[in-house]
Amino acid sequence: MPSKQATETLKVPKGVEGYGPSKEAHRYFCSPLWRKSLPTVVDRGLEGVVVGSTQLSNVEGAIGRLTYRGYDIDDLAPNATFEEIVHLLLYGHLPNRHQLDVLKRELGACRALPEPLLNAMQNVPKTAWPMDVLRTIVSGLALFSPVNAQGEHLSDVHTAIELIAKMPTIVAAWDRIRRGLDPIGPRSDLSQAGNFLYMRSGKVPHAIEEDALDTYFVLLADHSFNASTFAARVAASTRADIYASVTAALATLQGDLHGGAASAAYLTLEEVKTPENAEPYVREILNGGQRIMGMGHREYKVRDPRARHLEAMARELAEYVGDDRWYATAHALEEASRKVLQERKPGNTIYANVDFYTAPVLSDLGIPGDEFTCLFACGRIAGWSGHVLEQLADNRLIRPQASYEGPVTGPYVPIEQRGTNGARG
Ligand code: COA
Repeated sequence: MPSKQATETLKVPKGVEGYGPSKEAHRYFCSPLWRKSLPTVVDRGLEGVVVGSTQLSNVEGAIGRLTYRGYDIDDLAPNATFEEIVHLLLYGHLPNRHQLDVLKRELGACRALPEPLLNAMQNVPKTAWPMDVLRTIVSGLALFSPVNAQGEHLSDVHTAIELIAKMPTIVAAWDRIRRGLDPIGPRSDLSQAGNFLYMRSGKVPHAIEEDALDTYFVLLADHSFNASTFAARVAASTRADIYASVTAALATLQGDLHGGAASAAYLTLEEVKTPENAEPYVREILNGGQRIMGMGHREYKVRDPRARHLEAMARELAEYVGDDRWYATAHALEEASRKVLQERKPGNTIYANVDFYTAPVLSDLGIPGDEFTCLFACGRIAGWSGHVLEQLADNRLIRPQASYEGPVTGPYVPIEQRGTNGARG
């Protein structure tokens, strides 16, 4: 309902005062005149609209800078572990040694999944998409979590840590189950990244592999009010619990304009196959009116700072595995995309985003392309849960308005009197 203040500044036609159900009032509130009176007209996609505040992270798109609680990602990526970032985002500061040890112990102790959920996963069709499984099982975790006297789940920092701890276990368990293998239980002495790779393969990973995945999680941990984080905050603002809010975030992450782009970028690399095919592929895609997945960003007008770190990691991993197929193809594809997009629209350069070099990095870690979005979620859960806690700490229901542009409703038409296409208002 429009605010009273907004209506009072208008010359409201006779018979429309107040909010009575009169026909005139109804027509008035559906009219272009009323729409024009709305206090804010926003661009589609909320582009450039500030919808809230946060102390968690900041994206400075014009200069390509990303900070977590004031620390530059360029500084964090080579130096901090994912566990330190979890502490930074959830508790507001980098931990000292003791605080980090406490957090690691808690993460290690929370990794195992409830047995009934593992059993349920055994009954899922093996063709199920990993993101569908992750979203469903995360939602299912609520069924096994304690409730307070009012029957509500706790949405506190410890529930957040539990979700962060369990997410990779779900992804690794499904990875093995769908390959017809038994899931491997988590180890509490490994890092989040190391333990995930261990649960997938049964082998403790090499330090280069563990570091690469750890840095990937650091880079993905938070990104201000992106679509999935905003979805989590909207859910939390209704006082939905953290399980429901993270489930909303997971649902929002899956589309290929957001987290799904990583898997889509992988499919692109698979199709392109070799560096030589990159330019013809780009021309064909753009001529067909399609987009290059992993390129472009709503916020960054220069290269996504995370892409630089991921590209360096992709190069390093290519050396480590002794096969630069993925890296070289990705690099050629980025160059070709920039060249061709520049040709078509001079001055409007589109750069690689975080999802682009995710594809060679995760491929070289042996992770299948359709799991990339799940790995994104295993990093972003740190930010999602931080945002949910921040929202709950100073909550106000997020409920924007829309400008109604549909027909002014006519009288109800009995079904016998409707034409072959039904009846419109
Ligand atoms: N490939 C080709 N052209 C692209 C493009 C891409 N990946 N991304 C943007 N463009 C073009 C659009 O076609 C549009 O051109 P036009 O003005 O001639 O129509 C222009 O750049 C602006 O795009 P727009 O969709 O309005 O920008 P946006 O801010 O809404 O889009 C994305 C941001 C991320 C949705 C968009 O860049 C995209 O679809 N990228 C591919 C998916 C992806 O990688 N998503 C992950 C983001 S982290």
